[in-house]
Amino acid sequence: MKEIVIKTSAAEYTVHCGGGTFSKYASQIISGQFFVISDRDVFAYYRYLLWDVLGEGFPVYIMPSGETGKSFANLKCILTEMLKAGMRRDCTVVSFGGGVVGDMAGLAAALYMRGVRFVQIPTTLLAQADSCIGGKTAVDFGGIKNLVGTFYPPAEVIADPRFFSTLSDRDIRCGLGEIIKCATIDEDLFGVLENCKDLSGFDFFEDMVFRCLSLKASIVQQDEFDLKGIRKVLNSGHTTAHAFEGYYRKKSHGEYVLAGLYYEAYIALKLGVCDEEYFERLKNLIFRVMKAPFFPEVEKAAEAALSDKKNRDANICVIAPVSLGKCGEIRIPLQVYSRLLKECSDELKGEHGAC
Ligand SMILES: NC(=O)c1ccc[n+]([C@@H]2O[C@H](COP(=O)([O-])OP(=O)(O)OC[C@H]3O[C@@H](n4cnc5c(N)ncnc54)[C@H](O)[C@@H]3O)[C@@H](O)[C@H]2O)c1
Repeated sequence: MKEIVIKTSAAEYTVHCGGGTFSKYASQIISGQFFVISDRDVFAYYRYLLWDVLGEGFPVYIMPSGETGKSFANLKCILTEMLKAGMRRDCTVVSFGGGVVGDMAGLAAALYMRGVRFVQIPTTLLAQADSCIGGKTAVDFGGIKNLVGTFYPPAEVIADPRFFSTLSDRDIRCGLGEIIKCATIDEDLFGVLENCKDLSGFDFFEDMVFRCLSLKASIVQQDEFDLKGIRKVLNSGHTTAHAFEGYYRKKSHGEYVLAGLYYEAYIALKLGVCDEEYFERLKNLIFRVMKAPFFPEVEKAAEAALSDKKNRDANICVIAPVSLGKCGEIRIPLQVYSRLLKECSDELKGEHGAC
């Protein structure tokens, strides 16, 4: 078990990382009046464990599983149930689930009575390696992913990889998507992944969660509110990931992150800012985790990138992998972005095993 302490001007909180942290810390961290937010699948798997550790009969809101849960209607239901359960200003909201539950529970905690204590217990690889820290909360709005939200850091986090035993292969792949994203800004991590024969197993995931959270913590501490340009690197691949996610709506967030990293590295390559050798290495890593990410009609999906939060003018902003351990900001007109996505997708069409 290891700890990461995150200190920013607005908050200081501890992440308890490692196998067994849930049993060790949950009952210490969660006391007094509390309200659990989870989703249908996670609660079905772990309700007996929760009852065992926290006692039976606590108020809980069960969201639908998956991205559809990230709606205003659902946010309203959460707040309504908190009110009905008599939650006071000194209550604790406990997020128990993946990144969707975490983003929604954080937003509910931030809004209820102008802010109540918030504890994150992430249960997916993606949520443990990435979304459980940094304080970004979100709900989709107007058809745009994560358009509305707040910065609201948790008071404590428990990241216990024992929850991964029930994850599907797809959810493991999604977690690896954000882990590879971290590797695009961390040379050592890139090397570790390249040299690892099998990107799976309890010890491997436990190590990855600690490495990725340590990296994210160091970045968030320098640019808590994403205003200084430092935190942007955590968004590599995400302009295209969010555009594809909004347009296709078939795969999961982490799979779109993998695709986004590939397409944005390709854009950088064609613009002459990513070197060929690094592109091939990144491609090999991504293709170890997913089939060639071919998508049809990418020009139409490209238009969804016009609403990306990083855009400052009519150009599309992408944070693309450019060399070992480094991502760079590229601003290009929609027509150029769209043409390069199309070229990339045409090349992938012929790849063996394109998905
Ligand atoms: N706030 C941030 O900084 C941040 C960062 C990255 C991603 N995100 C958000 O995170 C979301 C994606 O997170 P996610 O991939 O965890 O998705 P998710 O929360 O939808 O979880 C994926 C699926 O796994 C199931 N699940 C969760 N834990 C499980 C377990 N232990 N065993 C079995 N099944 C389990 C869920 O029911 C769901 O069906 C996106 O909405 C994305 O925008 C937020």
